[in-house]
Amino acid sequence: MNGDKRLIVALDVHSMEKVQQLVEQLGDSVNYYKVGMELFYSVGSQVITYLRQQNKDIFLDLKLHDIPNTVGQGLASLTELGANMLNVHASGGFTMMQTAAKAVKNKAEQMNVCPPKLIAVTVLTSMNQEEWSTLGFDSDLSEQVVHLAKLAQKAGLDGVVASPQEAKQIRAACGNDFIIVTPGIRPSGAAINDQSRIATPAGALLNGANHLVIGRPITGVTDPRQAAEDILKEMRDYSHE
Ligand code: C5P
Repeated sequence: MNGDKRLIVALDVHSMEKVQQLVEQLGDSVNYYKVGMELFYSVGSQVITYLRQQNKDIFLDLKLHDIPNTVGQGLASLTELGANMLNVHASGGFTMMQTAAKAVKNKAEQMNVCPPKLIAVTVLTSMNQEEWSTLGFDSDLSEQVVHLAKLAQKAGLDGVVASPQEAKQIRAACGNDFIIVTPGIRPSGAAINDQSRIATPAGALLNGANHLVIGRPITGVTDPRQAAEDILKEMRDYSHE
């Protein structure tokens, strides 16, 4: 299957030239891209316009975290841009998430479009238990992730970003309709970089992830298309098992 939308490629670059180069190289093998703060703060909304022209789905990963009103207003503006998925930090709290979910739905209704999915970041995948403790928390990191996922669901969000290692517990706690997006994916043999709680593509799917966000193992190698095809094959092989 070409353009399997379970794979989201992270466009962690700074310029439109780099974006165009990658999107052209990856062609019809990749149909879902993540635009994060590095790219959005560098080039602005033109990247969204470009990806929409190319008929690609977009996860605008700006991880909003502020008081409820500010996050709600910010998300209403982002909904106008036309991304397919947006996100906030769950640690912003229940009221903030609830306000965020309402703001997205209201704006989409006004525009007469399908609302983008709104998901929450539970705990960054670069965080491990040791670093978690240095923040002054003595709770178990994975219990905290599940707790935040349940809170996000209760607030009306569509899903969460979480490490592949916690996906299984979240799936069990939040049911089959809840979207689980997992970064921290490393095909065997790939560099780990700064990620901590990682899994292979098949491992993440096995744990219940709906979308895998993959950056450097695709965008940082000499043949991105081949790397993407290899990952897509591993994902397809897993589905057929
Ligand atoms: O290059 P790599 O595959 O590590 O990229 C993962 C992407 O997922 C990055 O853009 C990173 O910002 C993002 N991400 C993450 N952990 C989260 C949320 C997003 O790694 N909890």
